[in-house]
Amino acid sequence: MKRPIRAFFIAFFNASALALVQPLAVVPDAAAAEVQVLHWWTAGGEASALKELERTLRAQGVQWRDVPIAGGGGAQAMTTLRARVLSADPPTAAQMLGFDIRDWAAQGALQDLTPLARSGGWAQRVPKALQAFDTDRGRWVAAPIDVHSSNWVWANKAVLERAGVHRAPGDWGAFISDLDKVRKAGFVPLAAGGQPWQIATMFDGIVLSVGGPAFYRRALIELQPAALDSAAMRTSFTRLRALRSYVDGEYANRDWNVATGMVIDGRAGFQMMGDWALGEFNHAGRVPGKDYLCLRTPGTQGSVTFNSDAFVFFDVKDRAAQARMVDDVMSPEVQARFNRVKGSAPALLGVSPAGFNACGAKAIADLAEADRAGTLMGSMSQGYAVPPAIQHAFYDIIARAFDGEITPAQAAAQLAAAARARY
Ligand code: BGC
Repeated sequence: MKRPIRAFFIAFFNASALALVQPLAVVPDAAAAEVQVLHWWTAGGEASALKELERTLRAQGVQWRDVPIAGGGGAQAMTTLRARVLSADPPTAAQMLGFDIRDWAAQGALQDLTPLARSGGWAQRVPKALQAFDTDRGRWVAAPIDVHSSNWVWANKAVLERAGVHRAPGDWGAFISDLDKVRKAGFVPLAAGGQPWQIATMFDGIVLSVGGPAFYRRALIELQPAALDSAAMRTSFTRLRALRSYVDGEYANRDWNVATGMVIDGRAGFQMMGDWALGEFNHAGRVPGKDYLCLRTPGTQGSVTFNSDAFVFFDVKDRAAQARMVDDVMSPEVQARFNRVKGSAPALLGVSPAGFNACGAKAIADLAEADRAGTLMGSMSQGYAVPPAIQHAFYDIIARAFDGEITPAQAAAQLAAAARARY
């Protein structure tokens, strides 16, 4: 599948709208080649997935300079990236999500990858739902490496058995009664952290569970006021608020992976979190079905609220190494290795599910099924449903509703007002 380095370089030369700093003949020698990669993959599973890409590049003679900016959801990473680009010190590449890609592309800050995309046949190999974010006015501006989704629940099997729960909850009522049983058995029922993006991640699944995919779309993607300020949204907030009583007192500043660790170690029964949590179970060597269960948020099987991690690229000197990285990110073989570790599905269609564990294979199958059924929708919590300003206003409202600072009715009305104010 690999094309020779010269071909990348020529393609990249053509791709660049900016003046090429060095003549084509001066391809940097292997020892000098380097990529600097900014990302927020600092949890164990995330870092080991990224190592797969790093290893591939190193084997090709490209050095890897890691620029990790901790903070789930990526808000801190985006702040650092902006500062670096503004001070004319961009990294080679940065991890980016959905509407952020659109914003950066609209500002003309991203390298045009179109020639590489054309020669690599990306248009045929990347699902249309992702292409909508990876392209800008017909040009490819991002290379997607994975597809995650937010409507998942993770459970410790031994804890559930000790609590007398012998099968995964199939609907919301069963989920609540299982949380009660886990509490009675002396465990933390729901592992969570209070960071607003984590609460919003739970909320994606709740809205989908209460109103189904059509409602999720009307409310959180189309931002229809009548859906945002509705009985179904009030019910969603009532359910969210009820979950607060199942979370322990130490939750306020807890990182998502620390919460996943509570489920892995058997201190907590459940966590509602995207399938980057699967990366943590993988990293800890746990086995699905034996040690833990993965299930779609009760009531949401058949729908997938996705987010895809993509790399965007900046105007740097070392274009050959940069082009190498683009090609590796879009290699089926690299995507298979990366995503088996990361807990996500490949962003490329047709990558074999062989070698993925049961939860990884389920992610791949659910994604294909939702794509066929028209129930594959962008995740609000992960930046694939609404622009960042609205997303962050929603985060704030959702976090305050979770903590009981505002009522479900106030929260629903505030969502509608926030969407109106920013549209
Ligand atoms: C990213 C994942 C990442 C998670 C937690 C999400 O927004 O898409 O790749 O693992 O945040 O850091």
